[in-house]
Amino acid sequence: MPGKLAAGNWKMNGTTAALAEARALAEACPDPAVSILICPPATLLSRLSDILAAGPVATGGQDCHGAASGAHTGDISAAMLADAGAGHVILGHSERRADHGETNADVRAKAEAAIAAGLAAIVCVGETAAERDAGDTLAVIEAQLAGSLPDAITPATVIVAYEPVWAIGTGRVPTLDQIDEVHAMIRANLSARYGAETGDEITLLYGGSVKGTNAAEIFAVAHVNGALVGGASLKSTDFLPIIQALEAS
Ligand code: PGA
Repeated sequence: MPGKLAAGNWKMNGTTAALAEARALAEACPDPAVSILICPPATLLSRLSDILAAGPVATGGQDCHGAASGAHTGDISAAMLADAGAGHVILGHSERRADHGETNADVRAKAEAAIAAGLAAIVCVGETAAERDAGDTLAVIEAQLAGSLPDAITPATVIVAYEPVWAIGTGRVPTLDQIDEVHAMIRANLSARYGAETGDEITLLYGGSVKGTNAAEIFAVAHVNGALVGGASLKSTDFLPIIQALEAS
């Protein structure tokens, strides 16, 4: 069975005061039955990792560079994230693909760099509203998987997050049938490419407007092994019901 993961992506939110939210979350779930991850802004990563070190909540980065080091002003390498206490890194989020023009090849290079540095890569895929309306959803996601995932992966090194772009931060959630269709395709795609032993064990996350009120029904969909949560991960009182729904699933 794939591992279950509740991952919070704080995006460009949070300064020192936000550390208290993560501390409250760790205190509220001392012995969770699922993995919990918070990906804060890079400026908080080291401090948050220190605060959470002894507890059940892990930390991750939101992006890394594809190169191990070098003249890349403003960028962060995978080894730097690991050095700051991260065990995971989100890669190819649609906001990175849209705002920074990241291609599938860029995401693949980043995933290879992350794995080389000992991080687990959370590789994001998802269609835009226009792509869904055109009937291209599955083809778009297949192309993203083919281009973004390295050839050598294991369930310990890669997690795949399906995030329809039109569902992120909008309060709009796909129907359960739509989530089911995409997750089943991703599972079949991974098993065909990497073999069932690997493909069947990779954790698949759904992301896009997950809340305490819709988490349980989303986690009941086949091949949904957790969530990548934006807005509802910023407050421990919002994130906790999602974690509890995953534990109960
Ligand atoms: P949201 O963001 O939960 O705020 O919709 C999800 C994401 O971008 O990962």
